[in-house]
Amino acid sequence: MAPIPKGGTVAVTGAAGFIGGWVVRRLLERGYRVRACVRNIDDRVRTDFLKGMPGHASGRLTLHAADINDDGCFDDIFKGCHGVCHVSHVSTYDDHEYVRRICDHVIESVSRSGTVNRVIVTSSTAAIISEADMQELVRRPVLYEDRHPDEQNPKRTPERGHGYAMGKNIAQRAFSDAAELDGRWDAITCCPADNLGPIQSAHQKDMAWQHIIEQMVLGRYEQTGAYRPWMTVDVRDNADCHIGLLESVSVKNGERYIAWSTDVRKVEDICAAIDRLLPELRHDTPIVTDPFPDRVKAREAELRAIWAGCELRNDRIRAVVPVTFRPLDESIRDCVESLLAVGKVEPRRRPSFM
Ligand SMILES: NC(=O)c1ccc[n+]([C@@H]2O[C@H](COP(=O)([O-])OP(=O)(O)OC[C@H]3O[C@@H](n4cnc5c(N)ncnc54)[C@H](OP(=O)(O)O)[C@@H]3O)[C@@H](O)[C@H]2O)c1
Repeated sequence: MAPIPKGGTVAVTGAAGFIGGWVVRRLLERGYRVRACVRNIDDRVRTDFLKGMPGHASGRLTLHAADINDDGCFDDIFKGCHGVCHVSHVSTYDDHEYVRRICDHVIESVSRSGTVNRVIVTSSTAAIISEADMQELVRRPVLYEDRHPDEQNPKRTPERGHGYAMGKNIAQRAFSDAAELDGRWDAITCCPADNLGPIQSAHQKDMAWQHIIEQMVLGRYEQTGAYRPWMTVDVRDNADCHIGLLESVSVKNGERYIAWSTDVRKVEDICAAIDRLLPELRHDTPIVTDPFPDRVKAREAELRAIWAGCELRNDRIRAVVPVTFRPLDESIRDCVESLLAVGKVEPRRRPSFM
């Protein structure tokens, strides 16, 4: 199918979120018309930052109310759009029937629009690396687009937390299969890694990796699950990847692309980086605490060695999208500065002797 025309109209679901908000801003900066889909337009806490973007006053950016749990909520919004960035979360990933139902009605709206050429489905690197048996990462340590987690492992259950990765794979297939059948649009999946970088609105500090940075700034610091090092992408680069995939003449329906810099950092070094990058802040670097049960702690050396043996690749996205991934230090610095300036976070500081 076709890439979207430059300056065309793009709908963004989950537009008030950390990633969606940056997709909206970058689309505007590149001259697109944007329809930002949010649950509640009148929720000033979540939407004022969108209304303050250049483009809103002129009407190039419009806000639209849509609760993803309401079938057909995107029917009117997608009509006339050339592209859709489907960034939104859903209410749960553990109920796979529910995930399929949500995909089906979003797909219906795309098909009914008659105008959408391309949909970017936001997945996650969890859909690439999240294994129920960590030995799978030893057997297949190269982390790239064709790597899928072992979906048949009997230990893979929502109760054990594997619903997210499987829910994301269900969504990828649902969109790709539907696009294949329809023939008028294509679906490209973008799998971002751990997003860091600046928040644009205070409410965004309460989620995901930027929330962990907030906790570090406040003086609380916990080990990351399964001792995994952070595998990151700057949220601005991730947004550029989404837009690059909308524009690319090389991508094909059903393909997926990983958005990560391949910069890997041990969790111990992330928090320490705050003082290194912003010494004037006098951040009182907290000590990392390990909340895991003893059976996990006993495997620490083994798990760290497994992660150290993994090889991250981003060859594919760099071949089709003109993106230069920022170094992680820049993402950490900008994240911390935005938490202070936008999120009004009060850092824990060392005493001053001045
Ligand atoms: N953050 C990461 O590091 C990361 C990594 C890999 C993949 N991802 C994926 O990227 C996407 C966005 O993540 P994010 O970090 O930007 O999350 P986020 O900040 O929590 O934003 C997600 C948005 O989804 C919307 N949403 C949630 N439930 C909804 C519902 N029932 N109906 C309508 N909208 C709903 C919310 O909209 P309202 O604000 O309007 O309520 C929210 O703004 C997700 O699909 C996530 O799985 C994120």
